[in-house]
Amino acid sequence: MKFRNFKTVPKMIFGRGSFDQLDDVLADERQKVGDFVVFLVDEVHKDKPLAERIPATDKDMVIWLDVTDEPKTTYVDALTAEVQTFAAENNNGRNPVSVVGLGGGSALDLGKAVALMLTNEGGSASYQGWDLIKNPAVHHVGIPTISGTGAEASRTTVLTGPDKKLGMNSDYTVYDQIIMDPDLIQGVPANQWFYTGMDCYIHNIEALNGTYINEFARAFGEKSLDLCSQVFLQDHPDSDEKLMMASYMGGQSIAYSQVGACHALSYGLSYVMGYHHGIGNCIAFDVLEDFYPEGVKVFREMMKKHNIVLPKGVTKDLSEADMDKMIRTASGLAPLWDNVYGPNWKEKVTPELLRSLYERM
Ligand SMILES: [Fe+2]
Repeated sequence: MKFRNFKTVPKMIFGRGSFDQLDDVLADERQKVGDFVVFLVDEVHKDKPLAERIPATDKDMVIWLDVTDEPKTTYVDALTAEVQTFAAENNNGRNPVSVVGLGGGSALDLGKAVALMLTNEGGSASYQGWDLIKNPAVHHVGIPTISGTGAEASRTTVLTGPDKKLGMNSDYTVYDQIIMDPDLIQGVPANQWFYTGMDCYIHNIEALNGTYINEFARAFGEKSLDLCSQVFLQDHPDSDEKLMMASYMGGQSIAYSQVGACHALSYGLSYVMGYHHGIGNCIAFDVLEDFYPEGVKVFREMMKKHNIVLPKGVTKDLSEADMDKMIRTASGLAPLWDNVYGPNWKEKVTPELLRSLYERM
């Protein structure tokens, strides 16, 4: 047996108002004349109060991210080229001293991906997989403004490429620094808040009910689940703090275990139909009562409490070819099914089973 040697974020700041410490964090990286920082910011913050607080100097680069679609390898490569052109024109081609990702899961993943691609040649599609990255990334800082995905804690950056949706998983992917400021997640639109929060809830259910579970992952997963229940069932007054910690701890839990059936099905929905991760998870999870009976029961209570109505019949107009592609995407995620069923998963995860689940969504 080979144990996972698990890299965590080495530096983190937590607390309301801690975003203002970003300037100090970056000052440690700015050493020479010409040093510059790249801020990759979800465009939802453009012309909003947070934009005014970004500590960019006139040497720095601020890029507003289009996150209409989840991150694609082509978008990562275009952003990287944009930074390289800026570096060639302003800093003799020297890379930025830091890349800051500010926003939800997509912005956080783009921050990680661009930091990696600035030091690794050949385009991001060639690094989709496990431990393919060769060189350390540029220093990178992650600052969530929506909580749930765990992207702030994880060693992956999930990308849709020419032939698959798969992350660049590596120790170099992990953020060097995260800033978790609960003030920043106030005012997220209710549906998005719910769907992204449920990503965290589902991480915990899948980790705790999987065959990969161990006391390390359980310790984080159980606490994260408890925080989710305080946020989504009890409307706790400190919900922003609690959801932010739940997201981080859920990320730690799956980092030392694995997600399961819901994420496998959701990847298919996303790759073929373009559903964003949070809502795709919710659509898939709602048909998984045989896999996670208690988890799905509580999930439906949470939906009811927050007046969430899921889209129904989403696969009914799908072509046979697309259905096959979706089934292939879902069944291709071997570690996830191994976590659900153990080593004999191939006997259980038949195209018929996956089709019947997709048809119920
Ligand atoms: Fe997830």
